[in-house]
Amino acid sequence: MGRSFHIIVATDLARGIGHNGQMPWQLPEDLRHFREITATAEVPKQNVVIMGRKTWESLPASFRPLPSRMNVVLTSDLTYPLPEGVMRMSSLEAALDWAETQSNVDQVFVMGGGQLYAEAIQHPGFDRLYLTLIAQLFDCDTFFPAYEGLTREVESGRILTSVSGLQYRFVTRENRR
Ligand SMILES: NC(=O)c1ccc[n+]([C@@H]2O[C@H](COP(=O)([O-])OP(=O)(O)OC[C@H]3O[C@@H](n4cnc5c(N)ncnc54)[C@H](OP(=O)(O)O)[C@@H]3O)[C@@H](O)[C@H]2O)c1
Repeated sequence: MGRSFHIIVATDLARGIGHNGQMPWQLPEDLRHFREITATAEVPKQNVVIMGRKTWESLPASFRPLPSRMNVVLTSDLTYPLPEGVMRMSSLEAALDWAETQSNVDQVFVMGGGQLYAEAIQHPGFDRLYLTLIAQLFDCDTFFPAYEGLTREVESGRILTSVSGLQYRFVTRENRR
């Protein structure tokens, strides 16, 4: 079946996650949180981050590949150019199967975007959902799927206020299966 994995996402109050190929908000505390969760691995292993091709393209060139993590980009384009060291895979299943064979892999994270999240949350290997809930509505064209019925909350963080003034909290949920 391939190995289990976690999902990490930041959403607004309507589960919005993106607009015109970018994140709709500036939330530096969430970027830090994302790095802490996805880059912290049991030494000497590393975590894997799996992303859709559009999310890869949304990352500023100077930020990709994401350091200290094995980057996997999903695309149906077998010739899609990627820098050395970044894996190109043609399905989530293939990426999970590959991760299972790597002895130096600690945890696996699916990091978006909308199309990949929709598939990942229905996958039997989905384990934990790391959610940043932003207490505001933004203009979005990409959304995270409904997750309340599929997951249960295991940690509901307290409400925090960003330097940008946005209110948000870090929530952890797990697959109900
Ligand atoms: N708020 C957040 O936490 C967060 C996180 C990540 C992304 N985002 C936002 O989400 C938006 C991008 O999401 P999106 O839904 O448009 O695109 P996406 O899921 O990032 O990428 C879609 C593309 O990835 C490839 N792909 C996805 N699933 C695949 C699979 N199972 N097998 C093979 N290829 C697969 C396909 O590439 P090909 O067309 O090349 O075949 C597909 O067109 C951006 O606005 C981004 O900023 C937000």
